[in-house]
Order: sequence, then C-alpha cells, then structure tokens
Amino acid sequence: MPGIVIVGTQWGDEAKGKITDFLAGDADCVVRYNGGANAGHTVVVDGKTYKFRLIPSGVLQGKKVYIGNGVVVDPEVLLGELEDLRREGFNPDLHVSDRAHVVFDFHKLEDGLQEGLKGNLRAGTTRRGIGPTYSDKTARFGIRISDLLDEAVLRSKLKILVDFKQRLISHVYNEDVRLDEEEIFRKALNFGRSISSYVCDVSAEINGALDRGETVIFEGAQGTLLDIDHGIYPYGTSSNTIAGGACTGVGVSPKKIDKIIGVMKAYISRVGTGPVPTELKGEIGDRIREAGGEYGTVTGRPRRVGWLDLVPVKYSIRINGIDELVVTKLDVLNGVSPLKICIGYEYEGRRLDTIPANIRIFERCKPIYEELEGWDANINWKRVAEKGYDALPRQAKEYLERIEEHVKVPIRIVSVGPERRETIVLGG
Ligand code: GDP
Ligand code: IMO
Ligand code: MG
Repeated sequence: MPGIVIVGTQWGDEAKGKITDFLAGDADCVVRYNGGANAGHTVVVDGKTYKFRLIPSGVLQGKKVYIGNGVVVDPEVLLGELEDLRREGFNPDLHVSDRAHVVFDFHKLEDGLQEGLKGNLRAGTTRRGIGPTYSDKTARFGIRISDLLDEAVLRSKLKILVDFKQRLISHVYNEDVRLDEEEIFRKALNFGRSISSYVCDVSAEINGALDRGETVIFEGAQGTLLDIDHGIYPYGTSSNTIAGGACTGVGVSPKKIDKIIGVMKAYISRVGTGPVPTELKGEIGDRIREAGGEYGTVTGRPRRVGWLDLVPVKYSIRINGIDELVVTKLDVLNGVSPLKICIGYEYEGRRLDTIPANIRIFERCKPIYEELEGWDANINWKRVAEKGYDALPRQAKEYLERIEEHVKVPIRIVSVGPERRETIVLGG
C-alpha cells in the first residue's frame, strides 16, 4: 500500500499530526500537500511535545519529509522549525517544492485587514496570510519558491506585486503603512539562499519513490469542513484540504493513491467562526475542552467543542473516499454520561442527512441525537493502550461500534492519549 493519504474528517485538529507520526514509522516519506503555517500538528514522544506548522510530522521518525507545491510557505516559520529541530538533535531530511508559493508579511497584514472588513462572514482566521497568498496564486500574482532562486525574476515579480499591495493597503484599506520593496526583496532573496539546498521538483521525487514501491504518506492539514470547495464556505480555509488535494498539491495521479485514512475526534472541536450544530456551550463543553486541552496550537484560542456529529463524518467519507477511520481522543470523554452522537439534522420539520450548501439552512439545522452510556471517569488509558482493544471499557467499545454501524467504514486505529504509544491498532 504505497500511497496513503491522511485527511481530517471534521474542522481540523483531529490529531492528524499524532497519527501521521505513528504511521510514519512504517513509511519512507511524508509529504504535506496543502495549507501553511495555519496548521498546528502536535506529536508527543516520551513526554516531549513537538508542534509542527510546515514540516511534516514524519520528521521525528527520521523519514524523508517533503513540502508539496500545494503548500504556502512562510519563510520565518520554516527556518524557525528547522532550527528548533536541529537544537533537539534532529537532522531533517527536508525537500521543498520549487512550485510552492511564498507567504510575505504583507499577506499577513492583508489577512487581518480582510477579516476586519468581512463582518459576520469572517472565518476567524489564524492571520497567517493564508487566504491572501492563495488568492495571489490563483490570480497569478504569486511568488513561488523557484522565483526566490532567480534574482531577476524575483525583482520583476515583486515590483508588480508590492506596488499592487501598496495601492490596496493605502487606497482600499486606508492604512498608513509603507511597504519597503527593497527590504522585502532582500529578505526574500536571503530566504531563497538559506533553503536553496532543499528545493526540488517534489512531484518528480514522490512519483519516483512510489514507482520504486516506497511508502509515501500524504499528510493533510486542516479538515474536510474547512476545504475551500467542500467545506462550510466561507468559514473555512483557502486550500483543498480533502484527499483530492493530495494529487494537485504534490503532483501525483489519483491512480497512485492506494489508501485514504480519515482521522476523526471522538467529539468535535472548532477554532474560528461559523455554525457548529452540536456545539456545547455549558458545563459539559467546558469539561471536554479542559480534559482535551482544546486550545488552538497556532493561536492559543479556546476551541469550541461539542458532541460527535456523524453528518460531517459521513460527508467526509463520501468526498474523500475514506477506506479506514482513526478515532482519536477517546480518553477525553471519560466520565461523561450519557454520551450523545448526532446522526442527522432536522431542518424545518424535514430530516437532512448531509451538509447543505446554503449556510442559512446549515445554521438552522437541529441535531438529531442518539444517546449512549458513558464509561468510568477513572480509566488507566496507558494500561489499556498496552493491552489493546479488548481492554477498552465495554461502553467505549459500544461507542466505537455504533460509529461504525452509522458510517459503514471500519475503525482501524483508536487513540487514547497524546503519546505515540497511547495508540491501539484494531486487530493488530
Ligand atoms: P492536528 O492539527 O490534527 O494534528 O491536531 P492538533 O495537534 O492541533 O490537536 C490535537 C491535540 O490533541 C494535540 O494537543 C495532541 O497532543 C492531542 N492528542 C492527540 N491524540 C490524543 C488522544 O488520543 N488523547 C488526548 N487526550 N490527546 C490527544
Ligand atoms: P490543523 O492542520 C483548525 C481555521 C481558522 C479559521 C479558518 C480560516 O492544525 O488541523 P486560515 O488561517 O486558514 O485562513 O483560517 O480555518 N483553521 C483551522 N482550524 N485546525 C487547523 O489546522 C486550521 N487551519 C485553519 O480557525 O476558522
Ligand atoms: Mg492543529
């Protein structure tokens, strides 16, 4: 099974980083295909926590790691991550696509200015310049990594882009900010020099690896409900987060993808704005937020949490073609009883089993719940993880079985703690 995609099935933060690291043990390469430094992927190994925003989570397993063309690269974040890893004694075997686009400081500024204008249509972005960078890419204004390695090209492209951004900032947003084209140029050139040895044609490398029979993990960022086309528009991000994004964001044929793994939390979380039908605002929500440490990895914002909603998961299974599911953070639901699972929506007396395109309809969807018995508050999950699936509390097994019955896709892995080893492979 050489080409494996790992995709988030909900609103992001499903623990894709932990699962990518876990599965990377048996892989040769890990490649990020979308998003940028808006991602925050956490991996915990032997009590030490690592947070990745651009570098693929397979790096701790010593695997070759790639940043695909579909990613937008923030130079400072990338260099900072490399430095942090080296300080920890790692020597990342990193490769960056010559076709990936570069995030500039003016993109981050524009991100904040756009949010200020959008009123209740704002997504509550991470302010990492993601939307403006992808917009420039699509409008064919963008600067690619390969441009940083060619002084003449960089200068001519930046001249047009910086002039355009200056007009936008001064005359549309009426902000008193002066962009210094020379300084932007110098910084970009220096960044190009510092990463030049990593730059390559990632599509060629990954296709080569797949042709040799190596195992490649395509690590998704964000989640299906944040996808630019299939997410809860306009409250998502600006890239294709879905499994299909792995093909366009790396440059491989859909024929090269052998397996698609969907990662889902045992409940839901959402950082940012927009409707969340199963959101819990009271005491149970606070309890789950605290137990799950549900605070944004990138921004530190408290995440909104709620009951598990299977409508997005089923939608995600369809859009991504998910073969297997991974359920994470089951331990967080300790002592919450009864547990509720949303199995459909009610909208104006009608039942809906999928996510409507119309945001006003989605806002008014009322969850239809099924109740299940919860389990004890005092479970020793480390012991359970060591012993395997049979050691799970009966009610936890019933919870997982009920999910499978509804979504009709097998659960292959259950995560019961942040540590790499707090992971149970079913039948394994
Ligand atoms: P990602 O963006 O999908 O990689 O997820 P994040 O790293 O943003 O958020 C997941 C958080 O949950 C991180 O703090 C992880 O360390 C933590 N985590 C992952 N799996 C588990 C689990 O099974 N149980 C608990 N309690 N925490 C987990
Ligand atoms: P990972 O990879 C959760 C959300 C933001 C905002 C919207 C748009 O860690 O799962 P953006 O900065 O992308 O323009 O913000 O998307 N968002 C995420 N939420 N996890 C993420 O990444 C996210 N990346 C962006 O909160 O609502
Ligand atoms: Mg995250």
